[in-house]
Amino acid sequence: MIKRIAVLTSGGDAPGMNACIRAVVRTSIYKNLAVVGVIGGYEGLINNEMREMNGSSVGNIIQKGGTILKTARSEHFKTAEGLKSAYDNLKANNIDALVVIGGDGSFRGAEALGKTFNFPVVGIPGTIDNDLYGTDFTIGYDTAINTVVEAVDNIRDTASSHNRLFFVEVMGRDAGLIALRSGIACGAEAILIPETETHFDHLIAQLERGWLRQKTGHIIIVAEGDDAGGAFEVARKVRAKFDKIETKVCVLGHIQRGGNPSCMDRVLATRLGYEAVFALLDGKTQVMIGQVCGKVTYAELIKAAKHNVDFNKKILEMAEIMAL
Ligand code: F6P
Repeated sequence: MIKRIAVLTSGGDAPGMNACIRAVVRTSIYKNLAVVGVIGGYEGLINNEMREMNGSSVGNIIQKGGTILKTARSEHFKTAEGLKSAYDNLKANNIDALVVIGGDGSFRGAEALGKTFNFPVVGIPGTIDNDLYGTDFTIGYDTAINTVVEAVDNIRDTASSHNRLFFVEVMGRDAGLIALRSGIACGAEAILIPETETHFDHLIAQLERGWLRQKTGHIIIVAEGDDAGGAFEVARKVRAKFDKIETKVCVLGHIQRGGNPSCMDRVLATRLGYEAVFALLDGKTQVMIGQVCGKVTYAELIKAAKHNVDFNKKILEMAEIMAL
């Protein structure tokens, strides 16, 4: 029987993680469960860094970016020895189940823990990359794309005023979903993503067309994982063939990860955190709690982590048509 649960955040921080921690803690209290926060992700489990949580420990955090529980990418947890120490500490602290808020690497860790020791564990999708199967959106993605849109709108002012071509690099690791959605919203002239091959002749033809119709400024969004390389590399290759417009490169970097979560991320985080506690009490384990078409869903952790997110090519075509 589950009486005491632990919650941790793992991998890259994402806006909305705090709202999710708050939901897990307050739902647990409502269900008469004790709840413990693990500090620093899986590293905290291995080092036995835990603190008792109550309603007040999660007060005034719903609006805050980052994670009050800290996070880490733990290499040690991937070893048999690290996994065992983590499990031993869970047992030593009388913890009956674990909630992991994170992305694909965090889910692989959660799966290993659940499977190896038959320990109840559920995952909640928390990453700005939106690269998990089994949920329409991950916690943090909406805030991150809005941050990108705001930044690119600012860059657009300079691009138009100086008639410049900007290559803006966005995050997403090996997924292009941040680039795709923010690129559409910014009216980007082109969006380069890892899901499709980048053809430079095609890209140059697009730029020539824009130049001929006297476009005042061009924005090309480059996903960091694009097959053509990052924004600097793409700019170098374009400049070699097209020098009619002055070019600049801007790498947005970690400004995409921080900041107050959007309304959508706060609500999603609250709902998934709330549902995670009910899922554990219901006997569910090794699943990620997601939301698909407004409904709460459960995907096997290992499947969720596999990056097999459906990519709709028509959306990219649409973006290109909008840039004509
Ligand atoms: O997974 C989130 C993410 O921000 C990716 O988009 C990016 O590739 C990576 O994390 C950067 O990680 P770090 O902050 O550890 O350099």
